[in-house]
Amino acid sequence: MAQPKRICEGKTLAILTGGGDTAALNASIEAIKSRASILGYKVYGILKGWKGLLDDGDIVELTNQPYDGVYGGTALRSSRTNPFSGDKAKERVAQIMRNLKRYRIDVLVTIGGDDTNGAAKKLYEQEGVPVIGFPKTIDNDLNTRTIHNYNGQLINAVLCPGFPSAAKGIAEFTSRLATTAESHSRIIVLEIMGRDAGWLCGAAMMGGAEISLIPEFPVTKENKQALFEKVREIYSKTKKHFLIVAVSEGLRWYDEKTGKVDVVYASSEVDDFGHPRFGGVSGVVASEIEKATGIQARAQNIGYYARSGDCRNYDKRFVSVLADRAMDLLLREDYGKMPVLSKICSYQELEEFNTSTVDMGNIGNQPLPEVYYDQSEFHFNERYMDFLSYMVDKPKAIRFDYNFPKVKPFE
Ligand code: F6P
Repeated sequence: MAQPKRICEGKTLAILTGGGDTAALNASIEAIKSRASILGYKVYGILKGWKGLLDDGDIVELTNQPYDGVYGGTALRSSRTNPFSGDKAKERVAQIMRNLKRYRIDVLVTIGGDDTNGAAKKLYEQEGVPVIGFPKTIDNDLNTRTIHNYNGQLINAVLCPGFPSAAKGIAEFTSRLATTAESHSRIIVLEIMGRDAGWLCGAAMMGGAEISLIPEFPVTKENKQALFEKVREIYSKTKKHFLIVAVSEGLRWYDEKTGKVDVVYASSEVDDFGHPRFGGVSGVVASEIEKATGIQARAQNIGYYARSGDCRNYDKRFVSVLADRAMDLLLREDYGKMPVLSKICSYQELEEFNTSTVDMGNIGNQPLPEVYYDQSEFHFNERYMDFLSYMVDKPKAIRFDYNFPKVKPFE
């Protein structure tokens, strides 16, 4: 491939955020901005992802501006605009190229998942735009090639900024949910984002969920009865009589009426990248569980709670070390790549020497490795819990641990 030629010859770096937000986006922007400034770069922010490079451009100055990297979400805003969307591609790419010249942007740093970074990689390959990718997604489904050493077993795991904060929030939320489930002796079916990957759903187990249903392992005609049996067994095994079942929004579930295994969609729309919106599977699962077991079951969707709120400590340090590696790429003019963590590690071990880089094209849809899930138990196993324990502490278990003596009537 031909070496990309620099569009401009100055030192202006522009950052954009695309796709669904996470709690670690502002932290990533702050980390990149402050490091690039020290290296003498002028730093711009492009508003609303790729949208900010269309038409007249929507660009703000970040150099020497105060920035809050703890507050979640993205101050640069986000969108799911795709520069290469169908017949709009030619016009959009022309507008982007024109604006990069007009604003004299020399290097683009794209913080996003497969869609955002995939589009950036295309711009690099087709148009010679110098780009550096920066990972983010609560879904944790990018191919970061991060090795998890579980007692000597090396697992090809994934770790994306945004996931640790989301996972911690989900564990805490699930743990709180236990008090209401227990008070009503109910089954609560908790729906969790994550698109086609079950990584995030596993975090609910850290908070006390005992069954997790994920996209990688569908509930089919063949195993549905076994699932109901498992639900009955766990619910009745102790006197506590409650159960939290975590379900991924992208779970594939056997529908008796259609005879098909399918996902539940929240709407028929698709975004610019062709992704549909999932939502509603918890309602289906809860009503079928109640019908099959006779135990009261309610659906609850954690929704945007998973990705909202402040950046947690692990993510804050995680993005700082990735930003160090991104600066390494910048100084070497080594474009089309993205920094990643090499080895799953504790907070203390998050250091630049534990990072590497990957090509930023085709990094998406990395499913959960099979070794993390026990199909017959319908839940994540101790290997996954070990993976998660590096970034999420087990929340305090809230359990009604009373053993009140029974009072007998006098007659
Ligand atoms: O990809 C991140 C994610 O949060 C998914 O888990 C979820 O399916 C999707 O984004 C929701 O997107 P939106 O912000 O369009 O509702």
